[in-house]
Amino acid sequence: MNAKQIRELYPITKKRAYLFSGGIAPVSIRHENAIKKHMDWLSEDPDDLYVNGLDSDASDCRRLFAQLTGSNEDEVAIVESTSAGCNIAFDLIEPRAGGNVVFDDFSYPSSVFPWHLPPHEGLTKRFVHAREDGIIHLEDFEQNIDEKTVAVCISHVTPIEGFKQDIKEVAKIAHSKGAVVIIDGAQSAGAMEIDLHDTGVDFFSTTAMKWLLGAAGIAFLYVAKRHHDKKPTRAGYSSAHSFDIHDFRLKDNAQRFELGMPNLLGLAFTKPGLQILSETDMKMVEEHNLDLSGYGIAGMKERGIDVITLDDPQYRLGVISAKYEDAGGLWKHLHDQGVDTYYFGDLFRVDPHIFNNRDDVDLLLKGIDSYIK
Ligand SMILES: Cc1ncc(COP(=O)(O)O)c(C=O)c1O
Repeated sequence: MNAKQIRELYPITKKRAYLFSGGIAPVSIRHENAIKKHMDWLSEDPDDLYVNGLDSDASDCRRLFAQLTGSNEDEVAIVESTSAGCNIAFDLIEPRAGGNVVFDDFSYPSSVFPWHLPPHEGLTKRFVHAREDGIIHLEDFEQNIDEKTVAVCISHVTPIEGFKQDIKEVAKIAHSKGAVVIIDGAQSAGAMEIDLHDTGVDFFSTTAMKWLLGAAGIAFLYVAKRHHDKKPTRAGYSSAHSFDIHDFRLKDNAQRFELGMPNLLGLAFTKPGLQILSETDMKMVEEHNLDLSGYGIAGMKERGIDVITLDDPQYRLGVISAKYEDAGGLWKHLHDQGVDTYYFGDLFRVDPHIFNNRDDVDLLLKGIDSYIK
């Protein structure tokens, strides 16, 4: 499918310029049908759903996510949020006395907060700082990662700055010192071509509800095969080989990090989103998103907006962030005009995705014009 065909699937595109994919994915016709089918099943024959339909959406979602991210199905665990996935990865790291953990200035709270808890709370926390040019430079990772670093925990694309990091290069630096790499992919997965095997990262956790076009309450944790011998700190029937309570053996794949019944409704909503992306060329999705974010940045800058996301496509993806004192007022004005964006304090954000086009961005720019004049 091309971008135009995908746009056709989303009723919202006929009514609004929806530019908030870094927040929450809207509903397509396929999602509506899938949820209706799930509801009909629950309404008419829940017994059949339980006996014959429990696993199919879960295994399809694992397979599709793997396909979209250059990983194997057996390296994917379904979890409930990006934060949950990051915490599972945290639990698998060997405690080390006198060690350190490395973040950067843009790391998300769920990458940092677990490290304040046992058993790793004693590690020194190092933050790689952004330089004046707004870039977190790889040389600065090199300076901060050493033989005592147990893990590097950063975001692939950051939600406040819209900064994209080269996670393959970060993984090379970290691995050369023996450190594990945990990536938060909430603002990258689904928005760009990703080959997790090629990046070499150890763990990659992402929610389904944003660029992957899925539901809140569903997330994916990629666990590289080399970590499949690690023991989780929690176990349920989904972690185990069988239901036999006298024969506990963990699964030998990433599903050992799952526990019990997943969110079936969430999976029913997530599958069509992953299918839409898998029927599309992810390189095309990436180029489309870079085109729209570049176009949006240029237009916003022309209007004097203090865009903080970098121009260089190497360092950005779908998120455009700006500082604007009255971001709430601007958000409301645009929302009233049918343009959906995001604000938080003085942060103003615009996140175009594959179902958007330049006309949507033009509506945004027109709305900005009518607000600032
Ligand atoms: C980089 C990043 N990580 C994580 C999240 C959300 O985490 P969770 O799936 O745990 O709610 C967001 C939400 O905006 C995000 O931007």
